Amino acid sequence: MKKATLELIEKIKIDLKEMLSEYRYNHSIGVMNKAIELAKIYGVDEDKAALAGLTHDIAKDISNEEALKIIEKNNIELDEGEKMNTKLLHCPIGAFIVKEKYGLDEQIQNAIRYHAISYYKMDMLAKVTYIADKIEENRKSPSIIEEWRKVAFEDIDKAIIMHINFILEKKIEENGPIPTTTIETRNKLLMNKK
Ligand SMILES: [Fe+2]
Ligand SMILES: [Fe+2]
Repeated sequence: MKKATLELIEKIKIDLKEMLSEYRYNHSIGVMNKAIELAKIYGVDEDKAALAGLTHDIAKDISNEEALKIIEKNNIELDEGEKMNTKLLHCPIGAFIVKEKYGLDEQIQNAIRYHAISYYKMDMLAKVTYIADKIEENRKSPSIIEEWRKVAFEDIDKAIIMHINFILEKKIEENGPIPTTTIETRNKLLMNKK
C-alpha cells in the first residue's frame, strides 16, 4: 500500500473512533482487512479496497433526523430503494462524506453507495466492498456466513447472489419492500453465469 494511503487510513481511524460505536468501528476495521484480502484475489487496487472497506459505514451512527438534514442540505439524490428504508440512508450519505472529507474518488464513493442495496453495474471494487461487509471476521451470524466466506474467495458473483437470495427470503418473510436495484443486480449476475 502507498505511504499516503497508510497515513490517510490512520487519520480516518481517528475520525471513525469519534463517529462510530465501538462495535461499528471494529466492524469497519474487519471490512477493511477482508476487502484487502479479496482485492488481492480479484485484482482490485488494494489501497482503494482498504479505504472503501474502512469508510463504508462512516455515516451509520448518524441519527435519522441528522441524515435527512444532510440529504436536504446537500441535495443528495436518493435511489427509489434508498427511500424505502431509513437504515439505507447511511450509504448515499457515507459516499458524500468521504468525498467531502477525504476527497475519495468516484469509484470508492460508488462502492460505498451500493454496499447495501447493490447495483447491477457494480465494478469489482464495489463487489469486494459489498461482500467484505457481509463476511468480515467479527460477524458471527447468520449460520450460512461460513458458506459465504468460502465462496467469496472462489466466485465473488456467486457469493453476492447467495447473499441477495438470503436477503430476499428475509424480506419476503417480513413482507417488506425489496429495492428494484437488488433484483436487477441479482438478474445481471445470474445472466452473466449463463
Ligand atoms: Fe452499512
Ligand atoms: Fe457494514
